[in-house]
Amino acid sequence: MEQSECEVPGRRIVQPDSLFERCSWFYALCREYLFRDHTPEILQALFPEDRPAPGTRLLELGCGPGFYACRLSEELRSLQTTGIDLSHKLIERATSRARSLRLPNCNFQHADAHHLPYDSDSIDAIVVSRLFLIVPDKEGIVSEIFRVLKPEGRCFIAEPTSGFRTRFPLAVMWLLSRLTTSPAGKYREPQQADVMSRPDFETLVKSQEWGSMELKYDGWYQYAVCRKGLL
Ligand SMILES: C[S@@+](CC[C@H](N)C(=O)[O-])C[C@H]1O[C@@H](n2cnc3c(N)ncnc32)[C@H](O)[C@@H]1O
Repeated sequence: MEQSECEVPGRRIVQPDSLFERCSWFYALCREYLFRDHTPEILQALFPEDRPAPGTRLLELGCGPGFYACRLSEELRSLQTTGIDLSHKLIERATSRARSLRLPNCNFQHADAHHLPYDSDSIDAIVVSRLFLIVPDKEGIVSEIFRVLKPEGRCFIAEPTSGFRTRFPLAVMWLLSRLTTSPAGKYREPQQADVMSRPDFETLVKSQEWGSMELKYDGWYQYAVCRKGLL
């Protein structure tokens, strides 16, 4: 488990250093019951023509409790899906979700989206949902997505746009951590989720030279569907 130590006279307290580790159960509830399910849009964006060939490799970055990795692996059994996340507890939840849904084509790995443990040009498709709200180096992650995608590989990015609804879960996680830890823990997440403006989202996505790119917006979300060009 990712941990940090905290000195208190007479005792040593070991705490997880991520709110998603400490409050994994709360985030899993939010994901299940509060947030939108974009599975149909993701399927349409990533595989618009044919069903993917057996062994098509799909990554979900910052997969949390594995909601999309499992939904997509369930819809398309030919996919070989890996969800990555920094929270060990969420990876455990995701793994047991895939096991109980009997999805041998879906697995999870502890990894940092800033440094993907995959070869360049090796992944067919990538899904990123609500990750850029909390990471320190957004452009670094987009550059990693571009690096590992195969030529003509696609990625789907969904980021919320509504301030209050988006910030609510992280704010509650901070509150829960303060109520249940003494002294208050130090966590890597920002105090407030960074909801990107349209221009900032567009600039972020355009930081790589995609072969093609489409940006979409609705009341609550902004989306990017990007395809890497041929080398
Ligand atoms: C706001 S949640 C989004 C979870 C899920 N994608 C969803 O749609 O609900 C962000 C997730 O990203 C994970 N995370 C944060 N920084 C990360 C990083 N650098 N690499 C991988 N995962 C990260 C957190 O542990 C958390 O599970």
